[in-house]
Amino acid sequence: MSQIDTHDLSADDWDEQNFPRPQENDFDRVVERAISRRGFLGGVLAFGSGAAAMGSGLLSGTSAQAQAASRFAFTPIPIQTDFDVHVPQGYSWQVLARWGDPLMSAADGYDVTDGGPVDGSDMVFGENTDGMETFSFQGHQLIAINHEYTNRRINLPASQEGTPANAGDVRKLQNLQGVTVMEIREGENGWEVVKDSPFNRRIHHNTPMKIVGPAAGHDLLKTEADPTGTMSLGTLNNCGSGRTPWGTYLTCEENFNGYFGSTEEAQDQKPVQLEAGYARYGIGPQGWGYDYHKWDARFDVSKNPHEPHRAGWVVEIDPTDPDSTPVKHTGLGRFKHENAEVVVAPDGRVVVYMGDDERGEFLYKFVSNGVYVPGGPTDGLLDEGTLYAAKFNDDGTGEWLALTPETTGMELAEILIFTRMAGSKVGATTMDRPEWIAANPHAVEAYCCLTNNKNRGVKPNAGGDETPVNGPNPRETNRYGQIVRWRPADDDHTSDAFDWDLYVMAGNPEVYNNIYGGSENVNAGNLFNSPDGMAFDSHGLVWIQTDGDDSNEEDFAGMGNNQMLVGDPATGEIVRFLTGPKGSEVTGLCWSADRRTAFVGIQHPGGSWPDGSGLPRSSVIAVKRDDNGLIG
Ligand code: FEO
Ligand code: CA
Ligand code: CA
Ligand code: CA
Repeated sequence: MSQIDTHDLSADDWDEQNFPRPQENDFDRVVERAISRRGFLGGVLAFGSGAAAMGSGLLSGTSAQAQAASRFAFTPIPIQTDFDVHVPQGYSWQVLARWGDPLMSAADGYDVTDGGPVDGSDMVFGENTDGMETFSFQGHQLIAINHEYTNRRINLPASQEGTPANAGDVRKLQNLQGVTVMEIREGENGWEVVKDSPFNRRIHHNTPMKIVGPAAGHDLLKTEADPTGTMSLGTLNNCGSGRTPWGTYLTCEENFNGYFGSTEEAQDQKPVQLEAGYARYGIGPQGWGYDYHKWDARFDVSKNPHEPHRAGWVVEIDPTDPDSTPVKHTGLGRFKHENAEVVVAPDGRVVVYMGDDERGEFLYKFVSNGVYVPGGPTDGLLDEGTLYAAKFNDDGTGEWLALTPETTGMELAEILIFTRMAGSKVGATTMDRPEWIAANPHAVEAYCCLTNNKNRGVKPNAGGDETPVNGPNPRETNRYGQIVRWRPADDDHTSDAFDWDLYVMAGNPEVYNNIYGGSENVNAGNLFNSPDGMAFDSHGLVWIQTDGDDSNEEDFAGMGNNQMLVGDPATGEIVRFLTGPKGSEVTGLCWSADRRTAFVGIQHPGGSWPDGSGLPRSSVIAVKRDDNGLIG
């Protein structure tokens, strides 16, 4: 996540400050880097030239398709640097829900001084919206939306640094994060939240959850409050999302580590295993400024050393049942989960693609043992199976490395709780911060945004794995990001083997005439950096959202505010559709049931967007065509 008002450091920078890594500077590594970089450049040249160059290594018939008419139903828009949202001519947007909007009449709702009171803060729309999905149920339109983090300085203005001064302050922050499930409807005045709908629900940092799967009940998940290791409170730092074929919502716990801290300095007295996990996952005595540990002992690792193990999971929520208990699936591994892209393989097995968003961490895949049968039981489909980490070879091939007791020397439960260490043991490829993964509904292929990595070729990851430039991560100190895609062997997402290429390398061809200028489908008309959110629409176009440097200066000149673009997988063409307010990240995308509305999330806006009330309010907007045509 990028931090504007909350914090001076990004999540990754905070972790590095607390767990510094040595510079990679010995001679052998430098030579190795140079060789692998030459190898990849050779591969790029072999792909040919032209707008579709990056795709032609994989896609036959590409050049003919590249000359076909554009599939985009709008005129691309220029960059913007203002504090507003812009969409193409013939399209309009409106706000659906803002931070602090009441979901129930009992809540006081938004207050311009600090967002609102602690009482009722679990009945308002939370802050800093991220992943989201819509669901249709018995004639009702439901939407589930993540709230990733809080702007502490805004919510707690009495404290200059946004540091909680009491348990109530902590409770307020805890309430404003997590997930909102709510009913929405489209009327004469556009989209609105159905206040007091029985479906409206806030899930936050204290909501009871079940822990299921192979690691449930393991000693590392037991606490004094839960000696069974099977029940947990809250879901933390809900970033990207996913949806299952059986109609449930998946919310993914990303930078969970920052909520934990210690009231004792003596962290070095903890068992070695905890220490290893703490270091790899960035759990330290200071926390990330939320200071929960000073007011809520559950987050004090000197008192509850296993509590951090109960976060970092993918959580399943039934949006149609407000009384249901969310479920943490240990089968999907524990790391800084971005999103969870679910695909059903030809034989019915369930495949879940997942990224671990930290510099030099890995890309994962889960394949279920059981098969999905529509209407049949789904228990175990997200837990009983095999977890894999991706290995990319420089020649455009790759393989999924199974994380098993045999391949890692770890027990299954430890593989799932300390998944990063398992990935290191099998030699998975260190990646440039895997953000969202999206599978093409019209082709057997998947895409992953690798948002940026200033440490590529500079420092090892948090586990000490070296991070030389490699095939899908071909640039040292990568500040622009790229999107890698892969096609599994035999057109089957359960296959161990795949071919890959780069769909796009962001860059600035106005500034650089080398690899930092980006791939050939980047041009003066579509400049962007740090691809992050991503989703395919029903037509097979891929929508790309950015969370990058919006200074519009130097390396980032001509890129403007963060934005949402649309790409055609067949031609490689990418065009700009929407620009966000300065300071914001555009993240989260889903569509109404009739596909005539796109819901888009605007996280951590700057200025006083959207209502000029004096505080910036993270919001979800609804974008429509003025002729009410299909938008996705
Ligand atoms: Fe929450 Fe990696 O973005
Ligand atoms: Ca973010
Ligand atoms: Ca990001
Ligand atoms: Ca993200």
